Amino acid sequence: MSEDVRDRIRRLESASLEGGGQERVAKQHAAGKLTARERLDLLLDQGSFEEVDQLVTHRCHDFGMEKQRIPGDGVLTGFGRIEGRPVAVFAQDFTVFGGSLSEAFAEKICKIMDLAVKVGIPVIGLNDSGGARIQEGVVSLGGYADIFLRNTICSGVIPQISAILGPCAGGAVYSPAITDFVFMAKGSSYMFVTGPEVIRTVTHEEVTMERLGGAQTHGQISGVSHFTCADDMDTLAGIRRLMSFLPLNNAADPPIRVCDDPPDREDERLDHLVPEDPNKPYDIKELIRCVADAGDFMEVHDQYARNIVVGFVRMAGRPVGVVANQPAHLAGVLDIDASVKGARFTRFCDAFNIPLLILEDVPGFLPGVAQEHGGIIRQGAKLLFALAEATVPKVTVITRKAYGGAYCVMGSKHIRTDFNFAFPTAEIAVMGPQGAVNILYRREIEAAAETEAKRAELVRSYIDKFANPLVAAERGFVDAIIRPRETRRRVITALALAANKRDWMPPKKHGNIPL
Ligand code: HXC
Repeated sequence: MSEDVRDRIRRLESASLEGGGQERVAKQHAAGKLTARERLDLLLDQGSFEEVDQLVTHRCHDFGMEKQRIPGDGVLTGFGRIEGRPVAVFAQDFTVFGGSLSEAFAEKICKIMDLAVKVGIPVIGLNDSGGARIQEGVVSLGGYADIFLRNTICSGVIPQISAILGPCAGGAVYSPAITDFVFMAKGSSYMFVTGPEVIRTVTHEEVTMERLGGAQTHGQISGVSHFTCADDMDTLAGIRRLMSFLPLNNAADPPIRVCDDPPDREDERLDHLVPEDPNKPYDIKELIRCVADAGDFMEVHDQYARNIVVGFVRMAGRPVGVVANQPAHLAGVLDIDASVKGARFTRFCDAFNIPLLILEDVPGFLPGVAQEHGGIIRQGAKLLFALAEATVPKVTVITRKAYGGAYCVMGSKHIRTDFNFAFPTAEIAVMGPQGAVNILYRREIEAAAETEAKRAELVRSYIDKFANPLVAAERGFVDAIIRPRETRRRVITALALAANKRDWMPPKKHGNIPL
């Protein structure tokens, strides 16, 4: 090879390393953001990034673009390792044409996705982009659609993780939206389909970018984002942690960690976690941390629909997905948002061979016109569908209330849960004692001399008969009534027994989950 070619390669490589140049890099840093290369350095094991297409450039000849070519064209793509395991990555570089997506840029992303799905490794995308490259017009839009198609094809085959570390607007939001998990960095990222300017013109609403589509908004209100992070570094560390729970693909087992937390560890505190008074709240996360290996719980969607808690733990070293009603928030009632949150997480776990632990303390579905008109029937059915459809090992523990339809939905025996346990404090019935007595004994109560005394007596007798786990245990709907302190051991033993479970669904193109 001539010296000239060597020189050209060196010059192009070094131009690619510089991105959009010092000035734009300084602007990026001043905005509290890292560059694409700095981000990949933090995301991946040291020195593991193998870049591809470093010298790709755009092919646009309009608007003077032919004079501006930066090798790499605004996105870094390639492969690397996280805790020694391979991943495919792309990182949009805002310093190059605002990270905007050209035809060549899209082709680079598609190329690594195509290989990732063939070899069965996750794709992690770091988004920081002004959207479609305006100079390229429809060619850029086509590039987005090419990526959306691959996101869809890869769904359920390899985990897909998105980080939003800057702008992500217009149709560009739909790639992260299809991926399994979205991380957002506070203060520097936003996502919306139409921005504040368009909204002002169309609906006359005044809203800031942050309020419309910032990390807190999507973490708390819309649920679009699963993890709200302090900054770029926190986001990248979060992705590494999440990866420690995930398998490389849908045919692989989740990674096992050596565990020095004894599987039979008992915790006396659990015997007192559920209050005597059934109307008193308690924090289900205490139970989750108590039963998890070393108390380690990675919560997903921690600010959204807090009446249900979902996330990952390890039990005896193996990743487990937890879906738990949260009595400390809205009494753990199931509403639209909680149902959808629980359903999506359940489907992720089922797609990727992660067993499910369902913790149940639910007074029922939330009554109300807004809920009914919002489609609680259809939305609640999503959770039911997802839990019934799941063929991974499933273990349910009823800690207290299991009423009405919510009893059936939350991993009941009837929807092929492998082991169903109940605490002695469990109350399993069609409805709560007050409601039941008012319906069953309305005439007797009205006719009684002392109505309240009569009502209280009937409630007591209903509680004795139904508000306990005995009837369900007698029918075999509950496999065992367990002492709360032994929950960890019982769940680990059950999951170990179910580990090689093979359940089935009849052959079909796909089910029709009520979307
Ligand atoms: C080409 C772009 C660009 C774009 C930004 N740049 N967006 N170049 N196409 N879409 C360039 C700018 O010209 C500038 O170049 C550099 O990137 C940085 O942009 P600034 O505006 O200086 O940065 P900032 O002030 O931080 O503002 C960021 C921004 C703004 C809010 C993202 O750039 C912006 O509004 N961009 C346009 C966004 C947009 O409307 N995109 C199309 C949306 S439609 P220099 O050379 O000065 O550094 C879409 C549809 C996707 O994306 C559909 C998929 C189906």
